[in-house]
Amino acid sequence: MAFKNPVFCALDTPDAGEALKMATQLRGHVGGLKLGLEFFMANGAVGYKPIAELGLPLFLDVKLHDIPNTVAGAVRSLLPLRPNFITIHTSGGPAMMRAAADAAATAGAGRPKLLGVTVLTSLDASDLTAVGQSSDVAAHVARLAKLAQSSGLDGVICSPAEVALLRAACGPDFILMVPGIRPSWAAANDQKRVMTPREAMTAGATHLVVGRPITGAADPVEAAQRLAAEIAA
Ligand code: C5P
Repeated sequence: MAFKNPVFCALDTPDAGEALKMATQLRGHVGGLKLGLEFFMANGAVGYKPIAELGLPLFLDVKLHDIPNTVAGAVRSLLPLRPNFITIHTSGGPAMMRAAADAAATAGAGRPKLLGVTVLTSLDASDLTAVGQSSDVAAHVARLAKLAQSSGLDGVICSPAEVALLRAACGPDFILMVPGIRPSWAAANDQKRVMTPREAMTAGATHLVVGRPITGAADPVEAAQRLAAEIAA
């Protein structure tokens, strides 16, 4: 089977020109691109479209969270952009996730896949207690991932530390999109618990999100190629 690159490169910039330039360079060297709130708030659909026209799979990381009717409407509003993945907060509850999944399904075979955000990795046990949730982070993550699965979502975003747990909890077909990835030759930056691409794939990841090791490299294309080769080896 041909190698299918699992790496989605995070273009974390509000600058549409810079993002388009990087996207154009990386075409053919990454599996897809991730555009998040920083980009989308600044540029919206107008900035998104030229990048989408490059034809790479796109992951729109907008972390939707509202009442079911509003989230379903937001998903419908994103359908014309034809993103491959959209994120929504699982803590919005089963009715919200189901409404989002039903809205996505109206796009038919080319529908976007919905990925749940469980517990933000910026939250620790004391933060969870402060907002009135269980302080057992791993148990809470697993609970929300299983709820996402039974509510019609296609997968979740998870930290490297959670991959093995969620692969076991959610079975072989659930998408696990994993940030916090650092090849041995890249700086960790502000990421605290990192895994190499190979380690994360071996643990059960289906897709990897990699930003600065590619976008901050002196030669981003070379860095992306090196990553892909490392995973394929
Ligand atoms: O540059 P770096 O590889 O650290 O970028 C990782 C990307 O994944 C960023 O867009 C970041 O917002 C995102 N992300 C993360 N950790 C999470 C969820 C998302 O690093 N828990």
